[in-house]
Amino acid sequence: MPDQSQLSWTGVASPQVTAPVYVYELPVRIWHWLVAAAITVLAITGWLIGNPPWPLFLGQPYNHYLMGDIRLAHFLSGYVLALGMMVRIYWTFVGNRYAREIFVPRVWTKDWWHAFFRTVRWYLLIERETGKETGHNPLAQLAMLFMFVVGVLFEIITGFALYGEGTGYGSWSNHLFTSWVIPLFGSSQTVHTWHHLAMWYLIMFVIVHVYMAIREDIMSRQTMISTMVDGWRYFKDGRP
Ligand code: HEM
Ligand code: HEM
Repeated sequence: MPDQSQLSWTGVASPQVTAPVYVYELPVRIWHWLVAAAITVLAITGWLIGNPPWPLFLGQPYNHYLMGDIRLAHFLSGYVLALGMMVRIYWTFVGNRYAREIFVPRVWTKDWWHAFFRTVRWYLLIERETGKETGHNPLAQLAMLFMFVVGVLFEIITGFALYGEGTGYGSWSNHLFTSWVIPLFGSSQTVHTWHHLAMWYLIMFVIVHVYMAIREDIMSRQTMISTMVDGWRYFKDGRP
Protein backbone atom coordinates (compact mmCIF):
# COMPACT_ATOMS: atom_id res chain seq x y z
CA MET A 1 0.00 0.00 0.00
CA PRO A 2 1.38 3.43 -0.86
CA ASP A 3 1.76 6.04 1.83
CA GLN A 4 -1.63 7.86 1.92
CA SER A 5 0.16 11.21 1.76
CA GLN A 6 1.24 10.31 -1.79
CA LEU A 7 -2.41 10.27 -2.89
CA SER A 8 -3.86 13.65 -3.65
CA TRP A 9 -7.54 14.49 -3.16
CA THR A 10 -7.99 15.19 -6.84
CA GLY A 11 -8.02 11.52 -7.69
CA VAL A 12 -4.59 11.88 -9.26
CA ALA A 13 -1.84 9.65 -7.93
CA SER A 14 1.56 11.20 -7.52
CA PRO A 15 4.08 9.65 -9.90
CA GLN A 16 5.80 7.78 -7.05
CA VAL A 17 2.77 5.52 -6.57
CA THR A 18 3.29 2.18 -8.29
CA ALA A 19 1.73 -0.20 -5.74
CA PRO A 20 -2.00 -1.03 -6.01
CA VAL A 21 -4.37 1.34 -4.20
CA TYR A 22 -7.66 0.30 -2.55
CA VAL A 23 -10.16 2.69 -4.12
CA TYR A 24 -13.80 1.51 -4.14
CA GLU A 25 -15.01 0.07 -0.84
CA LEU A 26 -17.45 -2.84 -0.80
CA PRO A 27 -20.63 -0.74 -0.26
CA VAL A 28 -19.71 1.49 -3.25
CA ARG A 29 -19.10 -1.54 -5.46
CA ILE A 30 -22.32 -3.33 -4.45
CA TRP A 31 -24.18 -0.03 -4.90
CA HIS A 32 -22.67 0.49 -8.37
CA TRP A 33 -23.83 -2.85 -9.79
CA LEU A 34 -27.19 -2.67 -8.01
CA VAL A 35 -27.85 0.82 -9.40
CA ALA A 36 -26.74 -0.28 -12.88
CA ALA A 37 -29.27 -3.16 -12.72
CA ALA A 38 -32.04 -0.95 -11.28
CA ILE A 39 -31.56 1.72 -13.96
CA THR A 40 -31.59 -0.92 -16.70
CA VAL A 41 -34.94 -2.28 -15.41
CA LEU A 42 -36.28 1.28 -14.94
CA ALA A 43 -35.35 2.32 -18.47
CA ILE A 44 -36.88 -0.78 -20.10
CA THR A 45 -40.09 -0.71 -18.03
CA GLY A 46 -40.29 3.10 -18.22
CA TRP A 47 -40.01 3.00 -21.99
CA LEU A 48 -42.79 0.39 -22.11
CA ILE A 49 -44.99 2.53 -19.83
CA GLY A 50 -44.51 5.48 -22.20
CA ASN A 51 -44.93 3.36 -25.38
CA PRO A 52 -47.18 0.40 -24.52
CA PRO A 53 -46.78 -2.03 -27.42
CA TRP A 54 -49.81 -4.18 -26.54
CA PRO A 55 -52.90 -2.07 -27.24
CA LEU A 56 -55.76 -4.53 -27.25
CA PHE A 57 -54.51 -7.59 -29.08
CA LEU A 58 -53.62 -9.42 -25.86
CA GLY A 59 -57.21 -9.25 -24.77
CA GLN A 60 -58.73 -7.46 -21.83
CA PRO A 61 -56.05 -6.08 -19.45
CA TYR A 62 -57.75 -7.57 -16.39
CA ASN A 63 -57.07 -11.07 -17.80
CA HIS A 64 -53.29 -10.71 -18.09
CA TYR A 65 -52.45 -7.55 -16.05
CA LEU A 66 -49.28 -7.10 -18.13
CA MET A 67 -49.00 -3.32 -17.80
CA GLY A 68 -49.69 -3.70 -14.09
CA ASP A 69 -46.71 -6.07 -13.74
CA ILE A 70 -44.51 -3.74 -15.79
CA ARG A 71 -45.47 -0.81 -13.57
CA LEU A 72 -44.82 -2.93 -10.45
CA ALA A 73 -41.30 -3.79 -11.72
CA HIS A 74 -40.76 -0.05 -12.38
CA PHE A 75 -41.86 0.97 -8.90
CA LEU A 76 -39.87 -1.78 -7.12
CA SER A 77 -36.67 -0.86 -8.95
CA GLY A 78 -37.53 2.80 -8.27
CA TYR A 79 -37.48 2.00 -4.55
CA VAL A 80 -34.16 0.13 -4.94
CA LEU A 81 -32.67 3.16 -6.73
CA ALA A 82 -33.96 5.65 -4.15
CA LEU A 83 -32.87 3.62 -1.10
CA GLY A 84 -29.54 2.92 -2.82
CA MET A 85 -28.96 6.66 -3.34
CA MET A 86 -29.73 7.34 0.33
CA VAL A 87 -27.15 4.77 1.45
CA ARG A 88 -24.65 6.09 -1.13
CA ILE A 89 -25.05 9.69 0.08
CA TYR A 90 -24.56 8.50 3.68
CA TRP A 91 -21.38 6.73 2.49
CA THR A 92 -19.90 10.03 1.26
CA PHE A 93 -19.63 11.00 4.95
CA VAL A 94 -18.21 7.76 6.34
CA GLY A 95 -16.42 6.27 3.32
CA ASN A 96 -12.92 6.93 1.99
CA ARG A 97 -11.89 10.00 -0.05
CA TYR A 98 -12.95 8.42 -3.35
CA ALA A 99 -16.53 8.07 -2.09
CA ARG A 100 -16.86 11.87 -2.25
CA GLU A 101 -15.47 12.47 -5.74
CA ILE A 102 -18.68 12.24 -7.73
CA PHE A 103 -20.53 14.57 -5.34
CA VAL A 104 -17.84 17.17 -4.63
CA PRO A 105 -15.20 17.42 -7.40
CA ARG A 106 -12.35 19.49 -5.97
CA VAL A 107 -12.58 22.24 -8.58
CA TRP A 108 -11.01 24.81 -6.27
CA THR A 109 -7.60 23.09 -6.39
CA LYS A 110 -4.88 23.67 -8.97
CA ASP A 111 -4.14 19.92 -9.22
CA TRP A 112 -7.71 19.20 -10.25
CA TRP A 113 -7.61 21.68 -13.15
CA HIS A 114 -4.21 20.40 -14.21
CA ALA A 115 -5.59 16.86 -14.38
CA PHE A 116 -8.75 18.16 -16.08
CA PHE A 117 -6.87 19.75 -19.00
CA ARG A 118 -4.58 16.76 -19.25
CA THR A 119 -7.63 14.47 -19.59
CA VAL A 120 -9.18 16.77 -22.22
CA ARG A 121 -5.93 16.63 -24.20
CA TRP A 122 -5.85 12.82 -23.79
CA TYR A 123 -9.42 12.46 -25.08
CA LEU A 124 -8.56 14.76 -28.01
CA LEU A 125 -5.67 12.40 -28.81
CA ILE A 126 -3.04 15.09 -28.35
CA GLU A 127 -1.53 13.64 -25.16
CA ARG A 128 0.55 10.49 -25.45
CA GLU A 129 -0.64 8.83 -22.23
CA THR A 130 -3.16 9.29 -19.41
CA GLY A 131 -2.23 10.62 -16.03
CA LYS A 132 -1.96 8.18 -13.15
CA GLU A 133 -5.35 8.41 -11.53
CA THR A 134 -6.32 6.58 -8.39
CA GLY A 135 -9.94 7.78 -8.37
CA HIS A 136 -12.05 9.00 -11.30
CA ASN A 137 -10.45 11.41 -13.74
CA PRO A 138 -11.82 15.00 -13.45
CA LEU A 139 -13.95 14.73 -16.61
CA ALA A 140 -15.53 11.54 -15.31
CA GLN A 141 -16.21 13.29 -11.98
CA LEU A 142 -18.07 16.12 -13.77
CA ALA A 143 -20.08 13.69 -15.93
CA MET A 144 -20.97 11.65 -12.85
CA LEU A 145 -22.09 14.75 -10.95
CA PHE A 146 -24.01 16.60 -13.67
CA MET A 147 -25.36 13.66 -15.63
CA PHE A 148 -25.62 10.80 -13.15
CA VAL A 149 -26.25 12.39 -9.70
CA VAL A 150 -28.42 15.26 -10.98
CA GLY A 151 -30.22 13.00 -13.49
CA VAL A 152 -30.96 10.27 -10.95
CA LEU A 153 -32.15 12.69 -8.24
CA PHE A 154 -34.41 14.35 -10.82
CA GLU A 155 -35.86 10.93 -11.78
CA ILE A 156 -36.43 10.02 -8.13
CA ILE A 157 -38.22 13.31 -7.33
CA THR A 158 -40.42 13.32 -10.45
CA GLY A 159 -40.93 9.52 -10.20
CA PHE A 160 -42.21 9.66 -6.64
CA ALA A 161 -44.36 12.68 -7.53
CA LEU A 162 -46.11 10.56 -10.21
CA TYR A 163 -46.20 7.58 -7.85
CA GLY A 164 -47.91 9.70 -5.18
CA GLU A 165 -50.74 10.46 -7.61
CA GLY A 166 -51.55 6.75 -7.56
CA THR A 167 -51.11 6.19 -3.84
CA GLY A 168 -53.29 9.25 -3.19
CA TYR A 169 -53.77 11.94 -0.56
CA GLY A 170 -52.33 11.07 2.84
CA SER A 171 -49.59 8.78 1.43
CA TRP A 172 -45.99 9.77 2.15
CA SER A 173 -45.02 10.17 -1.51
CA ASN A 174 -48.03 12.37 -2.20
CA HIS A 175 -47.23 14.46 0.85
CA LEU A 176 -43.45 14.70 0.20
CA PHE A 177 -43.37 15.01 -3.60
CA THR A 178 -46.70 15.17 -5.47
CA SER A 179 -47.90 18.14 -3.42
CA TRP A 180 -45.22 20.51 -4.78
CA VAL A 181 -43.72 18.84 -7.89
CA ILE A 182 -46.94 18.71 -9.95
CA PRO A 183 -47.82 22.41 -9.27
CA LEU A 184 -44.19 23.35 -10.00
CA PHE A 185 -44.31 21.76 -13.47
CA GLY A 186 -47.91 22.85 -14.09
CA SER A 187 -49.52 19.48 -14.78
CA SER A 188 -49.10 15.74 -14.35
CA GLN A 189 -48.54 15.34 -18.10
CA THR A 190 -45.61 17.81 -18.01
CA VAL A 191 -44.01 15.80 -15.19
CA HIS A 192 -44.46 12.62 -17.28
CA THR A 193 -42.75 14.30 -20.22
CA TRP A 194 -39.78 15.56 -18.18
CA HIS A 195 -39.46 12.21 -16.37
CA HIS A 196 -39.39 10.54 -19.79
CA LEU A 197 -36.86 13.03 -21.24
CA ALA A 198 -34.54 12.61 -18.26
CA MET A 199 -34.38 8.89 -19.04
CA TRP A 200 -32.67 9.73 -22.36
CA TYR A 201 -30.30 12.07 -20.53
CA LEU A 202 -29.30 9.13 -18.27
CA ILE A 203 -29.06 6.75 -21.21
CA MET A 204 -26.60 9.16 -22.88
CA PHE A 205 -24.50 9.04 -19.70
CA VAL A 206 -24.58 5.23 -19.59
CA ILE A 207 -23.56 4.83 -23.26
CA VAL A 208 -20.56 7.17 -22.88
CA HIS A 209 -19.71 5.78 -19.42
CA VAL A 210 -19.58 2.13 -20.49
CA TYR A 211 -17.63 3.03 -23.64
CA MET A 212 -15.10 5.06 -21.61
CA ALA A 213 -14.78 2.37 -18.91
CA ILE A 214 -13.87 -0.24 -21.53
CA ARG A 215 -11.68 2.16 -23.55
CA GLU A 216 -9.74 3.36 -20.51
CA ASP A 217 -9.33 -0.22 -19.32
CA ILE A 218 -7.49 -0.90 -22.56
CA MET A 219 -5.77 2.44 -23.21
CA SER A 220 -4.93 3.96 -19.82
CA ARG A 221 -2.15 3.16 -17.37
CA GLN A 222 -4.47 1.71 -14.74
CA THR A 223 -7.14 -0.96 -14.27
CA MET A 224 -10.81 0.10 -14.56
CA ILE A 225 -13.52 -2.54 -14.65
CA SER A 226 -11.74 -4.92 -12.28
CA THR A 227 -11.40 -1.95 -9.88
CA MET A 228 -15.20 -1.70 -9.70
CA VAL A 229 -15.25 -5.46 -9.00
CA ASP A 230 -12.51 -6.01 -6.40
CA GLY A 231 -11.88 -2.40 -5.32
CA TRP A 232 -8.14 -2.30 -6.15
CA ARG A 233 -6.54 0.02 -8.70
CA TYR A 234 -3.46 -1.52 -10.30
CA PHE A 235 -0.97 0.51 -12.32
CA LYS A 236 -0.22 -1.56 -15.38
CA ASP A 237 3.22 -0.33 -16.40
CA GLY A 238 4.84 -0.11 -12.95
CA ARG A 239 6.56 3.12 -14.04
CA PRO A 240 6.54 6.24 -11.88
C1 HEM B 1 -26.85 1.77 -15.84
C2 HEM B 1 -25.57 1.50 -15.91
C3 HEM B 1 -24.49 2.20 -15.12
C4 HEM B 1 -24.53 3.31 -14.34
C5 HEM B 1 -25.71 4.22 -14.07
C6 HEM B 1 -23.20 3.52 -13.80
C7 HEM B 1 -22.84 4.55 -12.95
C8 HEM B 1 -21.59 4.71 -12.38
C9 HEM B 1 -21.24 5.68 -11.37
C10 HEM B 1 -22.19 6.69 -10.78
C11 HEM B 1 -19.94 5.49 -11.06
C12 HEM B 1 -19.15 6.26 -10.00
C13 HEM B 1 -19.08 5.39 -8.77
C14 HEM B 1 -18.69 6.18 -7.53
O1 HEM B 1 -17.57 6.72 -7.47
O2 HEM B 1 -19.52 6.23 -6.63
C15 HEM B 1 -19.42 4.44 -11.88
C16 HEM B 1 -18.13 3.98 -11.89
C17 HEM B 1 -17.67 2.98 -12.72
N1 HEM B 1 -18.44 2.22 -13.58
FE1 HEM B 1 -20.40 2.38 -13.92
N2 HEM B 1 -22.38 2.53 -14.28
C18 HEM B 1 -23.13 1.71 -15.08
C19 HEM B 1 -22.72 0.59 -15.75
C20 HEM B 1 -21.42 0.19 -15.85
C21 HEM B 1 -20.94 -0.93 -16.63
C22 HEM B 1 -21.82 -1.85 -17.48
C23 HEM B 1 -19.59 -0.97 -16.47
C24 HEM B 1 -18.58 -1.94 -17.07
C25 HEM B 1 -18.36 -2.00 -18.34
C26 HEM B 1 -19.22 0.10 -15.56
C27 HEM B 1 -17.96 0.38 -15.14
C28 HEM B 1 -17.61 1.32 -14.22
C29 HEM B 1 -16.26 1.53 -13.77
C30 HEM B 1 -15.02 0.77 -14.27
C31 HEM B 1 -16.29 2.57 -12.85
C32 HEM B 1 -15.09 3.17 -12.13
C33 HEM B 1 -14.46 4.12 -13.09
C34 HEM B 1 -13.19 4.70 -12.55
O3 HEM B 1 -12.55 4.03 -11.76
O4 HEM B 1 -12.89 5.86 -12.88
N3 HEM B 1 -20.36 0.79 -15.20
N4 HEM B 1 -20.46 3.95 -12.68
C1 HEM C 1 -33.48 5.99 -13.73
C2 HEM C 1 -34.65 6.20 -13.21
C3 HEM C 1 -35.95 6.17 -13.96
C4 HEM C 1 -36.24 6.10 -15.31
C5 HEM C 1 -35.24 5.99 -16.46
C6 HEM C 1 -37.67 6.16 -15.46
C7 HEM C 1 -38.36 6.14 -16.67
C8 HEM C 1 -39.73 6.30 -16.83
C9 HEM C 1 -40.41 6.51 -18.07
C10 HEM C 1 -39.74 6.60 -19.44
C11 HEM C 1 -41.75 6.62 -17.81
C12 HEM C 1 -42.86 6.86 -18.82
C13 HEM C 1 -43.21 8.33 -18.81
C14 HEM C 1 -44.27 8.67 -19.84
O1 HEM C 1 -43.93 8.70 -21.03
O2 HEM C 1 -45.43 8.88 -19.44
C15 HEM C 1 -41.91 6.47 -16.38
C16 HEM C 1 -43.12 6.53 -15.73
C17 HEM C 1 -43.24 6.47 -14.36
N1 HEM C 1 -42.21 6.32 -13.44
FE1 HEM C 1 -40.26 6.26 -13.83
N2 HEM C 1 -38.24 6.22 -14.22
C18 HEM C 1 -37.23 6.24 -13.29
C19 HEM C 1 -37.36 6.32 -11.92
C20 HEM C 1 -38.56 6.28 -11.26
C21 HEM C 1 -38.71 6.27 -9.83
C22 HEM C 1 -37.55 6.33 -8.81
C23 HEM C 1 -40.03 6.20 -9.57
C24 HEM C 1 -40.64 6.13 -8.20
C25 HEM C 1 -41.39 5.15 -7.83
C26 HEM C 1 -40.74 6.20 -10.83
C27 HEM C 1 -42.11 6.19 -10.99
C28 HEM C 1 -42.77 6.31 -12.18
C29 HEM C 1 -44.22 6.45 -12.30
C30 HEM C 1 -45.22 6.49 -11.14
C31 HEM C 1 -44.50 6.54 -13.66
C32 HEM C 1 -45.89 6.71 -14.30
C33 HEM C 1 -46.51 5.34 -14.46
C34 HEM C 1 -47.84 5.40 -15.17
O3 HEM C 1 -48.30 6.49 -15.53
O4 HEM C 1 -48.42 4.32 -15.39
N3 HEM C 1 -39.80 6.24 -11.84
N4 HEM C 1 -40.67 6.28 -15.81
